[in-house]
Amino acid sequence: MRGLVDLDAPVGGRGHRDFRLSQGLIFMTKFKVGGVIAATGLAAAMMTMLSGCDGRERVDPEVTRARGQYLVEKVGMCADCHSARGPGGMFDLGQWLQGAPLGFSPTVPMPAWAGYAPGIAGLHNYTDAQAIALLTEGKTLNGQPLRPPMPAYRFNREDAEAIVVYLRSLN
Ligand code: HEC
Repeated sequence: MRGLVDLDAPVGGRGHRDFRLSQGLIFMTKFKVGGVIAATGLAAAMMTMLSGCDGRERVDPEVTRARGQYLVEKVGMCADCHSARGPGGMFDLGQWLQGAPLGFSPTVPMPAWAGYAPGIAGLHNYTDAQAIALLTEGKTLNGQPLRPPMPAYRFNREDAEAIVVYLRSLN
């Protein structure tokens, strides 16, 4: 039968299929866009969950400890003074950062020279805030500067926190 619209005609049929195809593409595109928006939203939600109230990203504690270890061992070289050495001048790892008499003295008179670097493993005499104040601003418990040759470090807060995490992990 031939009416106004010939359903069997190839043009009409193709047109219909094309219409469905394009609708499908539009749907897929919408889905994709929607998916991207949904994924972005999810990522944002996860970031919010992972970050603390101060808005800073929360870092894996093990990563923080490893950074602290790096700063202590490879940057601050704290062991040079704070760790005892055994025969041959090698560090006694059993007493790592547990304090040591200095193995050197100044070549010019320095009345304030400290002959002994106390133990810093565990940081038992310090609260976190006190230790961070010392490492970032040189603020000590009694208000007096630490005596030489303790360097007057000015670590940034994040690095000081990492150092504290590492030192606390030692006993
Ligand atoms: C060149 C030697 C030297 C180096 C390197 C050094 N220190 Fe010290 N540190 C000392 C001496 C000496 C003292 C004692 C100062 C005093 O008695 O006034 C001291 C004191 C301290 C104290 C105070 C301890 C207490 O019981 O009050 C802390 C904490 C400390 N150092 C941390 C560190 C850290 C962390 C590092 C590495 C990032 C470091 N020091 C590197 C020599 C050193």
